[in-house]
Amino acid sequence: MTEMLRSKAELRARLAGWKRAGETVGVVPTMGALHAGHLSLVEAAKAECDRVIVTIFVNPKQFNNASDLENYPRTEHADAEKLAPYAVDVIYVPGPEEIYPEGFATSVAVSGLTDGLCGAFRPGHFDGVTTVVSKLFLQTGADRAYFGEKDYQQLQVVRRMARDLDIPVEVIGCETVREPDGLALSSRNVLLPEATRAAAPVLNRAMVAMAEGLRTGADLATLKAQAEAAILAGGFERVEYLELRAADGLAPMTTLDRPARLLAAAWLGGVRLIDNIPVG
Ligand code: PAJ
Repeated sequence: MTEMLRSKAELRARLAGWKRAGETVGVVPTMGALHAGHLSLVEAAKAECDRVIVTIFVNPKQFNNASDLENYPRTEHADAEKLAPYAVDVIYVPGPEEIYPEGFATSVAVSGLTDGLCGAFRPGHFDGVTTVVSKLFLQTGADRAYFGEKDYQQLQVVRRMARDLDIPVEVIGCETVREPDGLALSSRNVLLPEATRAAAPVLNRAMVAMAEGLRTGADLATLKAQAEAAILAGGFERVEYLELRAADGLAPMTTLDRPARLLAAAWLGGVRLIDNIPVG
């Protein structure tokens, strides 16, 4: 039976019993509006941990735009129904005071890794993520934490944060779940105006073509210009970034001399979509 807990005191009481029994705890942090991408993380956690906690908290500190926070889908009842078949142990839905009590004055920030890509376009976003995720790690006492490669920079940043702060949690990355047409699942996809939904897979398609070109040794700048042109011609308003980075550490790359990742953010119908794929 899945319990829904709203306070860290209740959560702590539940955890104490599990820890005494020597059980391993897995956590899947989310902001709700759950879809098959989130559920794939839950499945991985269930397969590897004795106890599983799914957290749902729409974290105001990581939104750098007030209307994005306001429009973010909130579907708690439907989320609980989607989780029911997985029989997780606890759905932790902390109220804002459980995370940011009156007078909260601490921030957790990772430098370097957060400079470029999404960090460059969403000031303060990753500080909000690392602040809340460090709190969720400490509140849940999790041994393992499951994150999607969909948010590849976030995965790298969270891993570095846990390592740097000696938080004893293993951060596990799970593959991006996609629609049949290639569009990466995202809670924001429901915000896409219907007329633009058909254009959305253009982003992934252009990235796959660019990765193919890179593998055959074609010129990076030429491929990038072609991909950007294809994304815009496909109906997107703007490409925020499209970059080749080292898969480990995210250093900018110009030649495929080690495992790489192609990462992009682009705007369609007023919605910001991100994606990334492995190269080489
Ligand atoms: P949210 O966007 O709800 O995503 C929660 C987790 O689900 C993240 O680890 C994300 O990478 C993963 N995820 C999202 N879409 C996915 C997909 N298509 N395939 C696989 N995994 C996917 O990311 C956040 O929330 C927040 O920043 C959070 C970490 C909860 C901190 O507030």
